[in-house]
Amino acid sequence: MKIGVYPGSFDPVTNGHLDIIERASKIFDKLIVAVLVNPNKTPVFDIEERVELLKETTEHLPNVEVKAFKGLLIDFMKQENAKVIVKGLRAVSDFEYEFQMALLNKKLEPSIETIFMMTNSKYSYLSSSMVKEVARFGGCIEDLVPEKIAKKVMKKLNKKYAEMEENK
Ligand code: PNS
Repeated sequence: MKIGVYPGSFDPVTNGHLDIIERASKIFDKLIVAVLVNPNKTPVFDIEERVELLKETTEHLPNVEVKAFKGLLIDFMKQENAKVIVKGLRAVSDFEYEFQMALLNKKLEPSIETIFMMTNSKYSYLSSSMVKEVARFGGCIEDLVPEKIAKKVMKKLNKKYAEMEENK
């Protein structure tokens, strides 16, 4: 069984992520979307929320699983018996960082490959940080995140940024 792992922070999942997930799910027998629990970052959406939003977003894709992981990605890969990491590339600016990560993972575990998929040009400008920035300044994020979860994401971000304004 060919298993691919699509790792990321997904804070929150965007339409660009969903595009990669849908396309990668056609290439692998099983695609695991691996959500990083990163002790060095304070995400807006906690790990349970990020996993839940991804599960809702991908419920139409029967061979996609969503799981949280801690620590090194290659250890998670071994635990899941997966050999291929899937990453999305939006622009040349992504390349240097992604190249470094791919080489490091290869050094740590030579049997694991990283493959890159070009993001659909419709979404090349899109990132989770941009979604948060638009929401923070009152913009509409409806076309930026998957339709199914847009209201939930908007509600959470509005609440978060209203609280931040109050505490200023
Ligand atoms: O969505 P992001 O934040 O760009 O995803 C980055 C991610 C989760 C893919 C990367 O930080 C990662 O794999 N972290 C796990 C720790 C690890 O394995 N580090 C060594 C390789 S960089």
